[in-house]
Amino acid sequence: MRLLVTGGAGFIGSNFIRYILNARPEVAVINLDKLTYAGNLENLTGLEENPRYTFVHGDIGDRRLVSEIFSRGVDAVINFAAESHVDRSIMDATPFIETNIRGTQVLLDVTTEWWREHTAGGPPATPAGPMLERSSIRGAPTDPPAGVTASTTGDNFDTAPVSGGGNSTAGAAGGASPGQAGNGKSRFNGDSGSWEHGSTISTKDLPREDRGQPGTAPAVAFIQISTDEVYGSLGPEGRFTEESPLNPSSPYSASKAAADLLALAYHRTHGLPVAVTRCSNNYGPYQFPEKLIPLMITNALENRPLPVYGDGLNVRDWLHVEDHCRALELVLYRGRAGEIYNIGGHGERTNLAVVRTILHLLDKPAGLIRFVKDRPGHDRRYAIDPSKITRELGWQPRHTFERGLAATVEWYVKNRPWWERIKSGAYREYYERMYGGR
Ligand SMILES: NC(=O)c1ccc[n+]([C@@H]2O[C@H](COP(=O)([O-])OP(=O)(O)OC[C@H]3O[C@@H](n4cnc5c(N)ncnc54)[C@H](O)[C@@H]3O)[C@@H](O)[C@H]2O)c1
Repeated sequence: MRLLVTGGAGFIGSNFIRYILNARPEVAVINLDKLTYAGNLENLTGLEENPRYTFVHGDIGDRRLVSEIFSRGVDAVINFAAESHVDRSIMDATPFIETNIRGTQVLLDVTTEWWREHTAGGPPATPAGPMLERSSIRGAPTDPPAGVTASTTGDNFDTAPVSGGGNSTAGAAGGASPGQAGNGKSRFNGDSGSWEHGSTISTKDLPREDRGQPGTAPAVAFIQISTDEVYGSLGPEGRFTEESPLNPSSPYSASKAAADLLALAYHRTHGLPVAVTRCSNNYGPYQFPEKLIPLMITNALENRPLPVYGDGLNVRDWLHVEDHCRALELVLYRGRAGEIYNIGGHGERTNLAVVRTILHLLDKPAGLIRFVKDRPGHDRRYAIDPSKITRELGWQPRHTFERGLAATVEWYVKNRPWWERIKSGAYREYYERMYGGR
């Protein structure tokens, strides 16, 4: 399966890419990322030469580029790309509208176009069940499109073998795009375990065991990664369910709510098999140190003040990023089209409690805490009810907040050069060094 992951150089996207490549040998990932200030290719160090991983530098709002990527083969999209920091959206909402709404629209448009082309007789009347009946795998371009950087050194970006031996799941029914199937110029050679270059391959050219194995074809074509913030703020009681009304407070959460509605509308209108996931606050390795947990850990390690908004009693429901990645894997393979899935880690804590625990874990004094003027429109409490994804897909968080936080603190202690380079800005040189000449 060829998965287009957008925003894969960010915190959750990079964790997801590492996770899925490790968990699913049939998956190949194309990572489309604009590399904004939050995108850091050092989050993906070690994958540069992996034949199942390809990096494309670009904007999800660039229709031509996204179409070009699709024309070279995509089986499903997971849209992580976003402007994601509430404080920045308060300063200037423009990039949030551009990327989170307009960029998502472009991705949805191109995915819908592809979906129409590759579904026999147009989109299904009643979109339900495993959706990807056809594959769009194609082979062998001569050059990457303008603006595309391929991270695999030997091959063009669309011909990277899909798994260790060059496999693909390619959907249940098989067949390449209409009018192109079976021209036979490019195919997978099962004996040599490599691709023979040409133009178009059909799934019938793939080794038999790779055709539509149960559980290896995606169940949805597009996953929109959203947030619990679209529901707004809770009082002291209750938790958000998928039926809770949308009531966003910040330009960030309003832009995410708009994107959710667009994605769901493309399902209803065009039959595109879309799922929307709404998760609570994530934490874990590779999180940009402007967000609460890494900011507090890194400031404490530098013996700098820990700025806490207001009275520090705002409640967030913390989810370890690896638990989030497992939930997304389940939605990708078994989710139902047109559905929303809430993902939360049963980890409600006040910000102040989180900060105190971090100081305790690092053996630093509470005197480092500085209460600062509250953020305007600061939501008081978020709490997610994840019972639907537990009931339907069997998902449960595996990390308790205590153990997950301790492991995360340890990761930041051990990976000091990674966050020091972000705080100093030096991480931006990495792209040039790794990819500048390619
Ligand atoms: N971090 C959280 O706690 C959390 C919680 C709920 C939901 N989410 C959602 O999860 C997703 C990922 O969050 P994150 O924390 O990893 O974000 P992040 O800010 O760490 O990463 C975002 C990535 O998107 C890329 N990007 C931005 N604009 C782009 C564009 N126009 N085209 C291509 N790439 C672009 C950036 O370069 C970056 O790599 C977001 O959609 C966010 O709304 C995050």
